Amino acid sequence: MPSYAEYLKVNELLALQCPLSEGPEHDEMLFIVIHQVYELWFKELLHEVDYLKHLLARRDAARSLHTLKRVLTILKVGVAQIDILETMTPIEFLSFRERLESGSGFQSFQFRELEFVLGAKAPAALERYPEGSDHRARLTRRMAEPTLWDAFLHFLADLGYAVPREALARDVAAPIESVPALHPILIEVYRRDPTIATLCERLVDLDEGLQEWRYRHVKMVQRTIGTKRGTGGSEGAAYLMTTLNRPIFPDLWAIRTEL
Ligand code: HEM
Repeated sequence: MPSYAEYLKVNELLALQCPLSEGPEHDEMLFIVIHQVYELWFKELLHEVDYLKHLLARRDAARSLHTLKRVLTILKVGVAQIDILETMTPIEFLSFRERLESGSGFQSFQFRELEFVLGAKAPAALERYPEGSDHRARLTRRMAEPTLWDAFLHFLADLGYAVPREALARDVAAPIESVPALHPILIEVYRRDPTIATLCERLVDLDEGLQEWRYRHVKMVQRTIGTKRGTGGSEGAAYLMTTLNRPIFPDLWAIRTEL
């Protein structure tokens, strides 16, 4: 039997935090640890969302709901973790910021994979990764894959709902566009089928949760670097503001007015 440390590779894990600043600066450890923790959660979220797509393909509503609950709980932890980063003052961050050079969460390929698998496909994101690199190959694969939304629409069709063909046969590599002809179907789900309506509500929770993370991240950025440009090369908070309020599942929001 491997020991706790052997099984979890604790020694290897604890050797992965390598500050770049002279000293090193005290706060760089927090910065590294928090990003690494996020990347681990992104890994787990991808694992769960892939499983969720598989459960939907198997028409397993009960386990889909259970898995979605886990995804949402992880997302809540992800949002809450921003509180920890906000204990770092602008001056503490400046003590090592220049060492980051062009490094930024902007380049997190797992975050982009997560956006892609949920449905926020953006071909421009691929160009940030060198051609021929593993990260670009991963994202290219994700780009060509059906999204969680596609899996959900096929699930509804399998249950006998008259999901319009334009929604079922959409180009899965494209961002999700609203399909007004789908609205009466979703409204029927909400009126007639409490289990599937709960599934829809959890997808809305997921969409809202990701928007909440973006909002908390941009506020943290504003209080830490003000209006300075990002290390990833964008305009910083001004760019991040443009990413707020962009729902992933637009039709689930649109029907609220019609319900
Ligand atoms: C002091 C802490 C942080 C600051 C000042 C900061 C700043 C920024 C800025 C300015 C951007 C815009 C892109 C750029 O030009 O760099 C950005 C993007 C991003 N950051 Fe952070 N960030 C911080 C912490 C984090 C953490 C802990 C994560 C978790 C992984 C993260 C994930 C991301 C992601 C995923 C994006 C891309 C968002 C998008 O394009 O929609 N950031 N960050």
